Amino acid sequence: MRIGITFDLKSEGLAVPGQPDDFQEEFDSPQTVEAVADVFRRLGHDVILLGDGPAMLRRLLDDPPEFVFNFAEGHGIGRSREARVPAVLEMLGIPFSGSDPLTLAVTLDKDAAKTLVAAAGVSVPRGLAVRQPQDARQVPHSWFPVILKPAWEGSSKGIRRTSLVDDPANLLDTAAEMLRLYHQPVLVEEFVEGEEITVGIVGNDPPEVVGVMQVVPRSRNPRFVYGLEVKRDYKNQVDYACPPRLPEAVLDRITDAALRSYRALGCQDVSRVDFRVRNGEPIFLEVNPLPGLHPVDSDLVILARLAGWSYDRLIGKILEAALKRAHLGPPLPIPEQNGDSAQSCDYLPTSR
Ligand SMILES: Nc1ncnc2c1ncn2[C@@H]1O[C@H](COP(=O)(O)OP(=O)(O)OP(=O)(O)O)[C@@H](O)[C@H]1O
Ligand SMILES: [Mg+2]
Repeated sequence: MRIGITFDLKSEGLAVPGQPDDFQEEFDSPQTVEAVADVFRRLGHDVILLGDGPAMLRRLLDDPPEFVFNFAEGHGIGRSREARVPAVLEMLGIPFSGSDPLTLAVTLDKDAAKTLVAAAGVSVPRGLAVRQPQDARQVPHSWFPVILKPAWEGSSKGIRRTSLVDDPANLLDTAAEMLRLYHQPVLVEEFVEGEEITVGIVGNDPPEVVGVMQVVPRSRNPRFVYGLEVKRDYKNQVDYACPPRLPEAVLDRITDAALRSYRALGCQDVSRVDFRVRNGEPIFLEVNPLPGLHPVDSDLVILARLAGWSYDRLIGKILEAALKRAHLGPPLPIPEQNGDSAQSCDYLPTSR
């Protein structure tokens, strides 16, 4: 089959005047695109690299592929930017992997996502989306400490150590700075102390939990934030445990909450769902329906590897789920799961 891949690459010369240093954080490296393409080639497919934007549109119109594997994040700051490529593909009648435009838009808006997930019976942090600094005065003192995050971002854009605010007196200034840098509402949430958990899910009818993974800071810290500084230096700052050393009943609660969230948001084929676990109760933070697929550094890939899944198996399973949903093709010759899964990992030094 001819499979097109849609993606956005980080461009050279990362610093742009007036932009925060993380403005390209969600985009991919050529290594990721090549790694995904290589899996498809090994499965016997032809691959066309489509990219994103006007060049992608021209390629799609001139020489449409039979299927598109999508992980384009979209440029700019609009909360529907991840929905653009799937919307175009829907319009052209080209089947694609991953969630549809509505899911990709609603999940990028973390406040909207929390509303739907809470309606499905999953706990979420108390929070308020503010559009101007003075709106932050409405945040009740009982919520402190609070964490501030740009409302429509991923890859920890804007989430740094300074995003955790203990004192109401500092809230307005922190919110003002974030509003100035990220040009979108700021979500102020109660800071949920507890285990940092992410859950990998692949497939549909029924979706399959690849694994539950805990991100454990090397130095014990109740104020741990798995933010930008940590993710960029993850090899030195955290360990990963999959499965986490938590009671079976808590793991069941996490799995149930992750699957409920996946279904409530209409996710398809793949997602990574993030939680904090407070006194055994999973509290939903957000879902990533376009999770990073870097062959070494991305959380879903680390999680899958610890659960005994090779990279080929992970990418192959996502593709298989998408093709099945699109009624295209028989099952693929996907590698079996490895028997042995480790508790911690030792990864090659590459950038995220
Ligand atoms: N309400 C909260 N309470 C405690 N910690 C939080 C809260 N919200 C966010 N965090 C911390 O900040 C991290 C990043 O937040 P979040 O997952 O919302 O951002 P993201 O940029 O979308 O992440 P990703 O890199 O997974 O795309 C979380 O993993 C968690 O450590
Ligand atoms: Mg996250």
